[in-house]
Amino acid sequence: MVEVETRDARFIKKIKEKFPLHNYCRSTQYLHYLRSRKHPREIELMRTACNITEKAFRRLLKFVKPGVMEYEIEAEISHEFLRNRSRGPAYGSIIASGANACILHYVDNFRECQDGDVLLLDFGAEYANYAADLTRSIPVNGKFTKRQAEVYNAVLHVMKTAKQMLVPGNTLDQYHKFVGKVMENELIKLDLLTEEDVNNQNPEAPLYKKYFPHGTSHFLGLDVHDVGDKYRPFEEGMVFTCEPGIYIREEGLGIRLENDILITHNGPVDLMENIPLELEDIEREMRG
Ligand code: GLY
Ligand code: MN
Repeated sequence: MVEVETRDARFIKKIKEKFPLHNYCRSTQYLHYLRSRKHPREIELMRTACNITEKAFRRLLKFVKPGVMEYEIEAEISHEFLRNRSRGPAYGSIIASGANACILHYVDNFRECQDGDVLLLDFGAEYANYAADLTRSIPVNGKFTKRQAEVYNAVLHVMKTAKQMLVPGNTLDQYHKFVGKVMENELIKLDLLTEEDVNNQNPEAPLYKKYFPHGTSHFLGLDVHDVGDKYRPFEEGMVFTCEPGIYIREEGLGIRLENDILITHNGPVDLMENIPLELEDIEREMRG
């Protein structure tokens, strides 16, 4: 087997050759520690990134309709970001209509949005190197079907419940276990799992993962998946996403909702609280 030298390994070798008299030690643990909590000035920049992201989302609520291409939506986002002095998206925008929403990091953005689809939008502005990370799921024709609305409200319930756990002292591990239980309950109500299946499941491989195969939260900051110490209990100044989702391939439906949450001693502060989230608000804004 040929061992490929990583870019990091090449860099370390080069630096050591160039500066042989220096002592070297790893900075990772310090950077992870420092980047876990944000300074108020950093929070301010993240708020600006979130506010620019809000403008783009509000623009999309007026723009999306049957027949638009996913990449045309991507263009609207980039235009709104740049005209608000963001240098662009913090990561590749995910514009996933219909069954594409079940592909977690779909970035082809190549399909035509169809009447009856739900469209999953995962995008965020970068501002002064800080990232926002938003996800919304909206009906292409402006009105959710009964089933789509049921799944939407299940995800919304999980999101609201999860958010309340983003307080000092909890850990990511406890939090993810708790959210898994809440999700399990919702999936039973949606007839996707049965109580019997859940009672007999292997706790090491819970069944909810079939419909919710990713974590609920990650650190956010200089990077969209920022570095941070994931074993350190939550502290004031940490910022996490909160992003549960339900993906039902057999129904061509994927719904995820995501806001960015600042942890404080006075409870979770939602940096995206002004961005429409309730189903009725989304439908109303789309109607104009
Ligand atoms: N916004 C993309 C992600 O969180 O992976
Ligand atoms: Mn995210």
